[in-house]
This record gives sequence, structure tokens and C-alpha cells, in this order.
Amino acid sequence: MGRQLFTVGPVHVEADSLMAQTKPMITHRCKEYKALHGAIVEKIRKALCTDDDVFLVGGSATVLIEGSIRNGVANRSLGMTNGSFGNRFIECGTANGKDVVEVKVPWGKAIKPADIEGKVGKDIEAVHWVSNESSTGVLSDSVALAECVRAQNPDALIMVDAVTSAFAADLNLPKLQPDALLFGTQKALALPPGLAIGIVSDRILEKSKDMKNKGFYTDFVKLKKNADDNYALTTPPVSLLYALDYQLDRILAEGMQARYRRHDEMAKMVQDWADRKMNGLFPEEGYRSKTIGVINRGDLDFDAFHAALKQKGFEISNGYGEVKSSTFRIGHMGDITPAKPKGLLAAMDEVLEEMQ
Ligand SMILES: Cc1ncc(COP(=O)(O)O)c(C=O)c1O
Repeated sequence: MGRQLFTVGPVHVEADSLMAQTKPMITHRCKEYKALHGAIVEKIRKALCTDDDVFLVGGSATVLIEGSIRNGVANRSLGMTNGSFGNRFIECGTANGKDVVEVKVPWGKAIKPADIEGKVGKDIEAVHWVSNESSTGVLSDSVALAECVRAQNPDALIMVDAVTSAFAADLNLPKLQPDALLFGTQKALALPPGLAIGIVSDRILEKSKDMKNKGFYTDFVKLKKNADDNYALTTPPVSLLYALDYQLDRILAEGMQARYRRHDEMAKMVQDWADRKMNGLFPEEGYRSKTIGVINRGDLDFDAFHAALKQKGFEISNGYGEVKSSTFRIGHMGDITPAKPKGLLAAMDEVLEEMQ
């Protein structure tokens, strides 16, 4: 019954991580909970090299992506996009009545400092983008973008969707200095979905104090007040927190640099296969994702290919957004080691041969 997932998320979860969720339930206002919450926050800070506040909020990553807009933008932001999820960040702004100045970069291209040169004026309260665009498989250089924003308007908040890069690619937080870095559990953390994680700066917390209409669920001031006591604001997914605590121990034992190298290695394997067996990778060279290979499918009958692959016990992902019918995607993130994509690539070779 089991299928090996090489999907873009949720991704494969190891059995011991799943089991870690089965500890007896506790309430979220007891001292055992405080210890659990506090331990997770410290481990995330250590892994990502930051002293900033860490918010743990029940929901998917979008709840905190939207929350960062609601807490950090009164009127106007600048949203850079090179794919579906950059567009979604922008929509989180417009859906909340903000004026979002859009900077659109062609799909498949990285967002570069030149794209926003001269565009971050004093009226721009925040600049937001996706570090690893999951629809196109592009990893932009977020540090370079943040430096370009700060050089133009040091007051502009930096908001980064790190949903498919955090814990897989080195985001260099000491240099990036994000005001909001948002992600969830179901991608490179290799856990079930259900928890949004936000790394937030003092600057956005300060801005949130006077913000109107920021709602209750992701009010950063309320979240911070509770986080200072190692509590969540509302009932958190306690079972998932058990698994996150367990998983963070695994991750720290592996070492973050080793984890980044492992993702690099798997990305190169998939990229090499795409060059040899398909029409190459969709994203531009030099900015290719460490977690998702977005492959030009040419005249491949993807549905037939994927059906045959599933018969062999493997699942990958369809293309997404504007490139849905011209690409397909292979997720290679989380706890899988290079032996796993090697098995997938061999199975894909077999299917291609069978289809001839
Ligand atoms: C880059 C990116 N941003 C945002 C999201 C939305 O995340 P969630 O579904 O956890 O809210 C996704 C989901 O795939 C994503 O890949």
C-alpha cells in the first residue's frame, strides 16, 4: 500500500517521527507543555542561527504569511513574484485591503536586486517574496534582495516565504535579517502538515503594536505575549509539536551544514537526470532549487508516465500554475537520503523504456 513520496509536500515522514506524535495528550497550559514549547523554540533558533522570536501557530504556513501582512503593513507593500506562490503572497496583501505594488519577474527566472532597484521608496512599508518558488523550482538569493531593499529604504520590513527552503537550503539568517520568515512542518521538516512557524523581528512586533484590523488569530503582539511564556495563543497541535521536538533533535544531530549538503546532492542527481532523459530543468541555471526539480516534460504523456510510476511504488508531483502542462516536479527534501532518489530515477528510467 505504501508509496514513496517525492512530492512537493506533504513529503515522506519517517515512521519514528509519526510515532513521536502518539505520546499521551497534555493540555496546552500545563508546565509539561511549556517545557515542550520552549525546547522547540530553542532548537529552531539554534538550527537557523537566530535569536528572534519564534511563533508556533496551528494552521498551514499561509496563516502566518497572511499574518505578517496584517501585522506589518498598514497601507502599501511591494511584492516580488516569479510564480504562483509569489502571486499568493501578493494576494494575501490585496485580500486584506493593502495596496501591493507588484514586481513581476518571468517564470523560471530568479528575482534579482536589479528587478527592484529604484522601486523601494519611503512609502513602501514592507517588501515580500518567496525564497524558493515551488511552482518553478527557482531559489532566489534572498540575502542579496534584502540588502538591496535595506540600501534603498532601511525602514522597509523584509518578509520571506521560506516554505520550501527552510531547513533544506542555507538562508543565512544572520545576513538576511528577515522581519518575518514563514514556513510550515510539511516540507523540509519532514513532518505532517498542521503547524505554521514564523521567525519574527523586534521591528515587526513594534509595528504591530499600532496596527489596525490585524485580527485576533495572528495578532503578533498577542502571540509574542504568549510566546514569552512558552505558550501558544490558541490551542496548538500538541501531537505535532511532540514530533517537531523529536525531529529537531534528529536534524541537529545530523548538523545543518550536512543537511544542506545532502539536499544539494539530491538536487544535482535529479538535475542531471533531467538533462540526460528529459528536456532539462525549467528554472534558469545558477538559481536551481535544492528541494524541487521542475522538469521540462516535452512531449511526455505525464499522466501515463505517472500512473506507471505509481504502479512501481513512487509518487511525484504534476506541474503547477502557468507551467502545469509543460513541466512536472520532483520533491527531494526532508529526511530522505540520496539512495532514495537514486531508486526513483532508476524506476523512471524503466517506465520511460516501457513507454517506448
Ligand atoms: C513556496 C510556497 N509558499 C506557500 C505555500 C503554501 O503553504 P501552506 O499550504 O502550508 O499554507 C506553499 C505550498 O506548497 C509553497 O510551496
